[in-house]
Amino acid sequence: MRLGRTVRLLMEHATVVVSGTKIAEELDSSRSEVWRLIQQLRGLGVDVAGHPASGYQLRSVPDLLLPEIIRPLLRGTIFDEQLHHFYKIASTNTAAMAAAADGAPEGSVFLAEEQTAGRGRGANAWQSPRSTGIYCSAILRPKLPPSEVLVLSLAAGLAVQSAIQQVDSRVKADLKWPNDVLFDGQKLCGILTEMNAEATRVRYIVVGIGINVNQPTFPKDLAATSLRLITGSEWSRVELLAALLKSLDREYRELTQTAGARESILRRFAENSSWVSGKRVRIEENGASFEGTTEGLDERGFLRVRTPNGLQIVLSGTVRAR
Ligand code: BTN
Repeated sequence: MRLGRTVRLLMEHATVVVSGTKIAEELDSSRSEVWRLIQQLRGLGVDVAGHPASGYQLRSVPDLLLPEIIRPLLRGTIFDEQLHHFYKIASTNTAAMAAAADGAPEGSVFLAEEQTAGRGRGANAWQSPRSTGIYCSAILRPKLPPSEVLVLSLAAGLAVQSAIQQVDSRVKADLKWPNDVLFDGQKLCGILTEMNAEATRVRYIVVGIGINVNQPTFPKDLAATSLRLITGSEWSRVELLAALLKSLDREYRELTQTAGARESILRRFAENSSWVSGKRVRIEENGASFEGTTEGLDERGFLRVRTPNGLQIVLSGTVRAR
Protein backbone atom coordinates (compact mmCIF):
# COMPACT_ATOMS: atom_id res chain seq x y z
CA MET A 1 0.00 0.00 0.00
CA ARG A 2 2.80 2.40 0.87
CA LEU A 3 4.49 1.75 -2.46
CA GLY A 4 1.24 2.60 -4.25
CA ARG A 5 0.77 5.79 -2.22
CA THR A 6 4.35 6.86 -2.89
CA VAL A 7 3.86 6.44 -6.64
CA ARG A 8 0.56 8.32 -6.46
CA LEU A 9 2.18 11.23 -4.62
CA LEU A 10 4.96 11.43 -7.17
CA MET A 11 2.42 11.27 -9.99
CA GLU A 12 0.30 14.05 -8.45
CA HIS A 13 3.41 16.24 -8.40
CA ALA A 14 4.86 14.95 -11.64
CA THR A 15 6.43 18.25 -12.72
CA VAL A 16 8.25 19.08 -9.47
CA VAL A 17 10.73 17.50 -7.09
CA VAL A 18 8.96 16.23 -3.96
CA SER A 19 10.99 16.29 -0.77
CA GLY A 20 11.53 13.13 1.25
CA THR A 21 10.10 15.00 4.25
CA LYS A 22 6.82 15.73 2.43
CA ILE A 23 6.43 12.12 1.32
CA ALA A 24 7.26 10.94 4.84
CA GLU A 25 4.59 13.25 6.29
CA GLU A 26 1.97 12.06 3.83
CA LEU A 27 2.77 8.43 4.59
CA ASP A 28 3.03 9.09 8.33
CA SER A 29 6.50 7.62 8.15
CA SER A 30 10.19 8.59 8.27
CA ARG A 31 12.60 9.87 5.58
CA SER A 32 14.68 6.71 5.85
CA GLU A 33 11.56 4.61 5.27
CA VAL A 34 10.77 6.77 2.21
CA TRP A 35 14.29 6.13 0.88
CA ARG A 36 13.73 2.39 1.35
CA LEU A 37 10.40 2.61 -0.53
CA ILE A 38 12.02 4.57 -3.38
CA GLN A 39 14.71 1.92 -3.69
CA GLN A 40 12.01 -0.78 -3.77
CA LEU A 41 10.14 1.10 -6.50
CA ARG A 42 13.33 1.37 -8.55
CA GLY A 43 13.81 -2.36 -8.15
CA LEU A 44 10.34 -2.76 -9.64
CA GLY A 45 11.34 -0.71 -12.67
CA VAL A 46 9.79 2.63 -11.64
CA ASP A 47 12.01 5.42 -12.94
CA VAL A 48 12.47 7.82 -9.99
CA ALA A 49 15.19 10.49 -10.03
CA GLY A 50 16.75 11.95 -6.88
CA HIS A 51 17.93 10.97 -3.43
CA PRO A 52 17.10 11.84 0.19
CA ALA A 53 18.96 15.18 0.14
CA SER A 54 17.44 16.49 -3.12
CA GLY A 55 13.95 14.98 -3.01
CA TYR A 56 12.38 12.76 -5.67
CA GLN A 57 10.73 13.10 -9.08
CA LEU A 58 9.11 10.58 -11.40
CA ARG A 59 10.91 10.49 -14.76
CA SER A 60 8.03 8.71 -16.48
CA VAL A 61 4.63 7.31 -15.55
CA PRO A 62 5.27 3.71 -14.52
CA ASP A 63 3.54 0.86 -16.31
CA LEU A 64 2.38 -0.66 -13.04
CA LEU A 65 -1.18 -1.90 -12.65
CA LEU A 66 -1.83 0.38 -9.69
CA PRO A 67 -5.45 1.14 -8.75
CA GLU A 68 -4.58 4.85 -8.72
CA ILE A 69 -3.64 4.62 -12.40
CA ILE A 70 -6.27 2.11 -13.57
CA ARG A 71 -9.36 3.37 -11.72
CA PRO A 72 -9.88 6.62 -13.65
CA LEU A 73 -9.82 4.60 -16.88
CA LEU A 74 -12.64 2.34 -15.70
CA ARG A 75 -15.28 4.87 -14.70
CA GLY A 76 -18.81 3.60 -15.37
CA THR A 77 -17.85 -0.08 -15.34
CA ILE A 78 -18.50 -2.58 -12.56
CA PHE A 79 -14.73 -2.79 -12.02
CA ASP A 80 -13.85 0.73 -10.87
CA GLU A 81 -14.34 0.39 -7.12
CA GLN A 82 -12.66 -2.68 -5.70
CA LEU A 83 -9.25 -2.89 -7.32
CA HIS A 84 -6.67 -4.84 -5.31
CA HIS A 85 -3.06 -4.67 -6.41
CA PHE A 86 -0.19 -6.91 -5.30
CA TYR A 87 3.47 -6.65 -6.20
CA LYS A 88 3.83 -10.37 -5.52
CA ILE A 89 1.16 -12.97 -4.75
CA ALA A 90 0.80 -16.74 -5.12
CA SER A 91 -2.20 -16.55 -7.47
CA THR A 92 -4.76 -13.80 -8.10
CA ASN A 93 -7.39 -16.49 -8.73
CA THR A 94 -6.74 -18.10 -5.35
CA ALA A 95 -6.92 -14.69 -3.65
CA ALA A 96 -10.12 -13.76 -5.51
CA MET A 97 -11.81 -17.10 -4.71
CA ALA A 98 -10.99 -16.65 -1.01
CA ALA A 99 -12.23 -13.04 -1.04
CA ALA A 100 -15.44 -14.06 -2.83
CA ALA A 101 -16.05 -16.76 -0.20
CA ASP A 102 -15.69 -13.97 2.41
CA GLY A 103 -18.32 -11.87 0.64
CA ALA A 104 -16.25 -9.58 -1.62
CA PRO A 105 -18.61 -7.72 -3.96
CA GLU A 106 -19.15 -8.31 -7.64
CA GLY A 107 -16.67 -6.34 -9.70
CA SER A 108 -13.75 -6.85 -7.29
CA VAL A 109 -10.54 -7.20 -9.28
CA PHE A 110 -7.25 -8.73 -8.13
CA LEU A 111 -4.14 -7.65 -10.01
CA ALA A 112 -0.54 -8.72 -9.58
CA GLU A 113 2.82 -7.68 -10.95
CA GLU A 114 4.09 -11.19 -10.30
CA GLN A 115 2.57 -14.56 -9.32
CA THR A 116 4.67 -17.17 -7.58
CA ALA A 117 2.12 -19.97 -8.04
CA GLY A 118 0.03 -18.85 -11.03
CA ARG A 119 -2.48 -21.54 -11.95
CA GLY A 120 -3.62 -22.71 -15.37
CA ARG A 121 -6.37 -25.13 -16.40
CA GLY A 122 -5.97 -28.70 -15.21
CA ALA A 123 -2.86 -29.05 -13.10
CA ASN A 124 -0.84 -26.64 -15.23
CA ALA A 125 1.15 -23.74 -13.85
CA TRP A 126 1.00 -20.26 -15.40
CA GLN A 127 4.39 -18.58 -15.78
CA SER A 128 3.98 -15.12 -14.26
CA PRO A 129 7.25 -13.18 -14.30
CA ARG A 130 7.37 -9.70 -12.83
CA SER A 131 5.71 -6.79 -14.60
CA THR A 132 5.79 -8.38 -18.05
CA GLY A 133 2.33 -9.91 -18.22
CA ILE A 134 -1.18 -9.10 -17.06
CA TYR A 135 -2.35 -11.30 -14.19
CA CYS A 136 -5.91 -10.37 -13.37
CA SER A 137 -8.87 -12.06 -11.64
CA ALA A 138 -12.37 -10.60 -11.43
CA ILE A 139 -15.21 -11.65 -9.14
CA LEU A 140 -18.67 -11.88 -10.73
CA ARG A 141 -21.97 -12.82 -9.12
CA PRO A 142 -24.31 -13.38 -12.07
CA LYS A 143 -27.87 -14.56 -11.62
CA LEU A 144 -27.24 -17.45 -13.98
CA PRO A 145 -27.52 -21.22 -13.73
CA PRO A 146 -24.13 -23.03 -13.67
CA SER A 147 -24.82 -24.30 -17.20
CA GLU A 148 -24.44 -20.72 -18.54
CA VAL A 149 -20.98 -20.20 -17.10
CA LEU A 150 -19.23 -21.69 -20.12
CA VAL A 151 -20.78 -18.93 -22.25
CA LEU A 152 -19.46 -16.30 -19.84
CA SER A 153 -16.03 -17.83 -20.12
CA LEU A 154 -16.24 -17.74 -23.95
CA ALA A 155 -17.27 -14.08 -23.65
CA ALA A 156 -14.09 -13.43 -21.64
CA GLY A 157 -12.07 -14.74 -24.61
CA LEU A 158 -13.94 -12.34 -26.91
CA ALA A 159 -13.17 -9.50 -24.48
CA VAL A 160 -9.44 -10.30 -24.58
CA GLN A 161 -9.41 -10.54 -28.37
CA SER A 162 -11.24 -7.24 -28.72
CA ALA A 163 -9.04 -5.44 -26.14
CA ILE A 164 -5.88 -6.47 -28.00
CA GLN A 165 -7.32 -5.21 -31.29
CA GLN A 166 -8.40 -1.92 -29.72
CA VAL A 167 -4.81 -1.27 -28.63
CA ASP A 168 -3.24 -2.43 -31.91
CA SER A 169 -5.63 -3.16 -34.77
CA ARG A 170 -2.92 -5.18 -36.57
CA VAL A 171 -3.04 -7.96 -33.98
CA LYS A 172 -5.96 -10.26 -34.72
CA ALA A 173 -5.69 -13.05 -32.19
CA ASP A 174 -7.40 -16.42 -32.63
CA LEU A 175 -9.73 -18.03 -30.07
CA LYS A 176 -9.25 -21.69 -29.29
CA TRP A 177 -12.22 -23.33 -27.63
CA PRO A 178 -12.83 -23.03 -24.78
CA ASN A 179 -10.39 -20.61 -23.25
CA ASP A 180 -7.16 -19.93 -25.08
CA VAL A 181 -6.18 -16.90 -27.10
CA LEU A 182 -3.54 -17.74 -29.71
CA PHE A 183 -1.48 -16.01 -32.33
CA ASP A 184 0.00 -18.11 -35.15
CA GLY A 185 -0.86 -21.20 -33.10
CA GLN A 186 1.11 -19.97 -30.08
CA LYS A 187 -0.45 -19.14 -26.77
CA LEU A 188 -0.90 -15.48 -25.99
CA CYS A 189 -3.43 -15.64 -23.19
CA GLY A 190 -5.10 -18.20 -20.96
CA ILE A 191 -8.36 -17.89 -19.03
CA LEU A 192 -9.15 -19.85 -15.90
CA THR A 193 -12.80 -19.57 -14.87
CA GLU A 194 -13.62 -21.00 -11.45
CA MET A 195 -16.95 -21.01 -9.67
CA ASN A 196 -18.79 -21.82 -6.51
CA ALA A 197 -22.35 -22.91 -7.27
CA GLU A 198 -25.42 -24.74 -6.04
CA ALA A 199 -27.17 -27.13 -8.43
CA THR A 200 -29.27 -24.38 -9.99
CA ARG A 201 -27.58 -21.15 -8.94
CA VAL A 202 -24.12 -19.66 -9.21
CA ARG A 203 -22.86 -18.14 -5.96
CA TYR A 204 -19.79 -16.53 -7.49
CA ILE A 205 -17.41 -16.85 -10.40
CA VAL A 206 -13.79 -15.82 -10.69
CA VAL A 207 -12.57 -15.10 -14.22
CA GLY A 208 -8.77 -15.27 -14.16
CA ILE A 209 -6.96 -13.88 -17.20
CA GLY A 210 -3.25 -14.15 -17.92
CA ILE A 211 -1.93 -12.26 -20.97
CA ASN A 212 1.65 -12.50 -22.22
CA VAL A 213 2.43 -8.86 -22.91
CA ASN A 214 6.10 -7.88 -22.80
CA GLN A 215 7.95 -11.18 -22.30
CA PRO A 216 11.08 -11.06 -24.49
CA THR A 217 11.39 -14.87 -24.81
CA PHE A 218 9.75 -18.17 -23.84
CA PRO A 219 11.18 -21.63 -23.38
CA LYS A 220 10.71 -23.48 -26.73
CA ASP A 221 8.60 -26.26 -25.18
CA LEU A 222 5.93 -23.75 -24.05
CA ALA A 223 4.61 -22.87 -27.57
CA ALA A 224 3.83 -19.41 -26.23
CA THR A 225 4.26 -15.89 -27.53
CA SER A 226 3.80 -12.34 -26.27
CA LEU A 227 2.41 -9.15 -27.78
CA ARG A 228 5.90 -7.69 -27.73
CA LEU A 229 7.27 -10.65 -29.69
CA ILE A 230 4.43 -10.32 -32.22
CA THR A 231 4.71 -6.57 -32.82
CA GLY A 232 8.38 -5.95 -32.00
CA SER A 233 7.66 -3.20 -29.48
CA GLU A 234 6.73 -2.82 -25.80
CA TRP A 235 3.03 -2.61 -24.92
CA SER A 236 1.46 -0.53 -22.17
CA ARG A 237 0.00 -3.04 -19.74
CA VAL A 238 -2.09 -0.23 -18.23
CA GLU A 239 -3.73 0.60 -21.56
CA LEU A 240 -4.36 -3.06 -22.37
CA LEU A 241 -5.77 -3.87 -18.93
CA ALA A 242 -8.15 -0.91 -19.09
CA ALA A 243 -9.34 -1.98 -22.56
CA LEU A 244 -9.75 -5.55 -21.29
CA LEU A 245 -11.84 -4.67 -18.24
CA LYS A 246 -14.02 -2.32 -20.30
CA SER A 247 -14.63 -5.06 -22.87
CA LEU A 248 -15.34 -7.61 -20.16
CA ASP A 249 -17.79 -5.20 -18.54
CA ARG A 250 -19.59 -4.78 -21.88
CA GLU A 251 -19.78 -8.54 -22.51
CA TYR A 252 -20.95 -9.23 -18.96
CA ARG A 253 -23.67 -6.60 -19.00
CA GLU A 254 -24.89 -7.87 -22.34
CA LEU A 255 -24.99 -11.48 -21.15
CA THR A 256 -26.81 -10.71 -17.91
CA GLN A 257 -29.14 -7.96 -19.13
CA THR A 258 -29.96 -8.53 -22.80
CA ALA A 259 -32.25 -11.12 -24.32
CA GLY A 260 -30.50 -13.13 -27.03
CA ALA A 261 -27.01 -12.29 -25.72
CA ARG A 262 -26.00 -15.93 -25.38
CA GLU A 263 -26.67 -16.56 -29.07
CA SER A 264 -24.71 -13.43 -29.94
CA ILE A 265 -21.69 -14.58 -27.89
CA LEU A 266 -21.75 -18.07 -29.44
CA ARG A 267 -22.06 -16.61 -32.93
CA ARG A 268 -19.24 -14.10 -32.43
CA PHE A 269 -17.00 -16.72 -30.84
CA ALA A 270 -17.52 -19.01 -33.83
CA GLU A 271 -16.88 -16.12 -36.26
CA ASN A 272 -13.65 -15.15 -34.52
CA SER A 273 -12.18 -18.61 -33.99
CA SER A 274 -10.45 -20.78 -36.59
CA TRP A 275 -11.06 -23.79 -34.33
CA VAL A 276 -14.83 -23.98 -34.11
CA SER A 277 -15.65 -25.28 -37.61
CA GLY A 278 -13.80 -27.45 -40.09
CA LYS A 279 -10.67 -27.95 -37.98
CA ARG A 280 -9.05 -31.39 -37.70
CA VAL A 281 -8.55 -31.91 -33.97
CA ARG A 282 -7.58 -34.40 -31.35
CA ILE A 283 -9.60 -34.21 -28.13
CA GLU A 284 -8.23 -35.40 -24.80
CA GLU A 285 -10.94 -35.70 -22.21
CA ASN A 286 -10.96 -37.62 -18.91
CA GLY A 287 -7.98 -39.79 -19.85
CA ALA A 288 -9.48 -40.81 -23.22
CA SER A 289 -8.83 -39.27 -26.61
CA PHE A 290 -10.39 -39.22 -30.07
CA GLU A 291 -9.98 -37.40 -33.36
CA GLY A 292 -12.38 -35.67 -35.69
CA THR A 293 -13.36 -32.41 -37.37
CA THR A 294 -15.00 -29.56 -35.49
CA GLU A 295 -18.59 -28.78 -36.47
CA GLY A 296 -19.57 -25.65 -34.51
CA LEU A 297 -20.83 -25.00 -30.99
CA ASP A 298 -24.09 -26.34 -29.60
CA GLU A 299 -26.59 -23.99 -27.94
CA ARG A 300 -24.82 -24.33 -24.56
CA GLY A 301 -21.38 -23.51 -25.99
CA PHE A 302 -20.03 -27.08 -26.12
CA LEU A 303 -17.85 -28.07 -29.06
CA ARG A 304 -19.32 -30.41 -31.67
CA VAL A 305 -16.80 -32.79 -33.25
CA ARG A 306 -17.64 -35.14 -36.15
CA THR A 307 -15.82 -38.47 -35.74
CA PRO A 308 -15.96 -41.75 -37.71
CA ASN A 309 -18.30 -42.96 -34.93
CA GLY A 310 -20.68 -40.02 -35.19
CA LEU A 311 -21.05 -36.60 -33.60
CA GLN A 312 -19.35 -36.10 -30.23
CA ILE A 313 -20.07 -33.20 -27.88
CA VAL A 314 -16.98 -32.02 -26.03
CA LEU A 315 -17.78 -30.70 -22.55
CA SER A 316 -14.26 -29.94 -21.38
CA GLY A 317 -10.77 -31.27 -21.99
CA THR A 318 -7.93 -30.32 -24.25
CA VAL A 319 -8.25 -29.61 -27.95
CA ARG A 320 -5.16 -30.04 -30.12
CA ALA A 321 -4.65 -29.47 -33.83
CA ARG A 322 -4.04 -32.59 -35.93
C1 BTN B 1 -4.72 -21.61 -18.86
O1 BTN B 1 -4.60 -21.33 -20.04
O2 BTN B 1 -4.35 -22.72 -18.44
C2 BTN B 1 -5.31 -20.60 -17.92
C3 BTN B 1 -4.28 -19.64 -17.39
C4 BTN B 1 -4.87 -18.61 -16.46
C5 BTN B 1 -3.80 -17.74 -15.83
C6 BTN B 1 -4.39 -16.61 -15.04
S1 BTN B 1 -3.16 -15.42 -14.55
C7 BTN B 1 -4.31 -14.67 -13.50
C8 BTN B 1 -5.09 -15.76 -12.82
N1 BTN B 1 -4.41 -16.26 -11.66
C9 BTN B 1 -4.03 -17.52 -11.79
O3 BTN B 1 -3.41 -18.18 -10.93
N2 BTN B 1 -4.39 -17.98 -12.99
C10 BTN B 1 -5.10 -16.98 -13.76
